[in-house]
Amino acid sequence: LICTLMSGFLDSCLFSDSAALTVTMRENSVEAVRGDSVLLGCSFLTSTPLHRLNIVWTLVPSSSPESPMQVIVFDHGQVMEDPSLTGRVSFTGLPWTADIVLNDTRVSDSGVYRCMVNNPPEAAEEDVGEVVLTVLAPPSLPVCQWTGDVDVGGQVTLSCSVMEGVPTPEIHWEKVSPEEVPLPVDMEGDLLSASVQIANVSSQTSGQYRCSASNLLGTESCLVRLSVHTPADTHKSSGVLQGVLLTMSMSALLMALVLLLLWLHRTGQDFRRRGGRRRRRERKGLRFSASVMKRSFV
Ligand SMILES: *[C@@H]1O[C@H](CO)[C@@H](O)[C@H](O)[C@H]1NC(C)=O
Ligand SMILES: *[C@@H]1O[C@H](CO)[C@@H](O)[C@H](O)[C@H]1NC(C)=O
Repeated sequence: LICTLMSGFLDSCLFSDSAALTVTMRENSVEAVRGDSVLLGCSFLTSTPLHRLNIVWTLVPSSSPESPMQVIVFDHGQVMEDPSLTGRVSFTGLPWTADIVLNDTRVSDSGVYRCMVNNPPEAAEEDVGEVVLTVLAPPSLPVCQWTGDVDVGGQVTLSCSVMEGVPTPEIHWEKVSPEEVPLPVDMEGDLLSASVQIANVSSQTSGQYRCSASNLLGTESCLVRLSVHTPADTHKSSGVLQGVLLTMSMSALLMALVLLLLWLHRTGQDFRRRGGRRRRRERKGLRFSASVMKRSFV
C-alpha cells in the first residue's frame, strides 16, 4: 500500500524487504502417523511492534475440500480454536512465531493448512504460507465375504473391503489351504475393495482363502472358507435320506401290523367274554329255576 502510493519510488520499495512482513513455512508438506503430534511451522519477519498481530490458520480438508474451516486464530492477544479441535491444537511460540502443534492426529486432519499473518500497519509482501498435512494410518481390519453358488460348476465371488488406511492399502487374495495359490484380484471403484471371481467351481475350489490389506504401516487380513458340494456328497446324502425314509416306512408298517394283531386279539377276547357271559347267564337261569323248583317242592 505504501509502495503504490509512492509510485515514483516503487523499485526501491520492492527491494527493501525490511519494510514488509514476510511469512515463511518450515515445510511444504508434512506426514504424521495417526495419533502422533505434528508441528506445523510458520514463521514471519516484521519490523513493526506486535501490538496488533493477527494470525489465522485455515484448513481445506482432503476429505471435504468444499468445507474449509478456521483451525485457530490469534487476535487482540487472544487465542480461539475451532470447537472441533479444542484441546488438540495450540500455538507454540506466540508472539514470535505462528507455529502450531496438532495433537492426537486423525486421518480427517489431512489437508492444506494455510497460515496468514497480519501485523498492521505494516504491509505484507507474502502474508500467506501453505503446508500439506497427510495423516497416515495402517489398514483397518478387512471384511471377507463370498457370494454365489458352491455346487460343482457354479460361480463364486470372493470380496474384500477395507474401511481405512493411508496410503491406500493394497489388497491381495490368496488361497491358503489345502495348498497356497495367489489369486488375481479385480480392484473396485474406490480402491478399498477387491474381488475375485471363481468360475466353474470344482471340488478343488474348497479350502480357506485369505484377503490381506497392507500399506507401509502394516497388514491386516481376514479369512473365508469355501466348501464345494460335490455330486458324490449329494448322492451320499440322498442315499442316507432314502435309508432313513425306508426305515421309517418299514417301522410304520410294523407298527400297523402290531396294531392289527392287538386289535384282532382284543376283538377275539371280547367275543369270547361276551360268549362266556351269555353262558354264565344261562347257568344262573338254570340255578334260579332249580331253586324255584326246589321251593315249590318244599
Ligand atoms: C499437545 O501435546 C503436548 C505434548 O504432550 C502438550 O504439551 C500440549 O499441551 C498439547 N496441546 C494441547 C492443545 O493439548
Ligand atoms: C468345468 O469344469 C469341468 C471339469 O474341470 C469341465 O469338464 C467343463 O468343461 C468346465 N465347464 C466350463 C463351462 O468351463
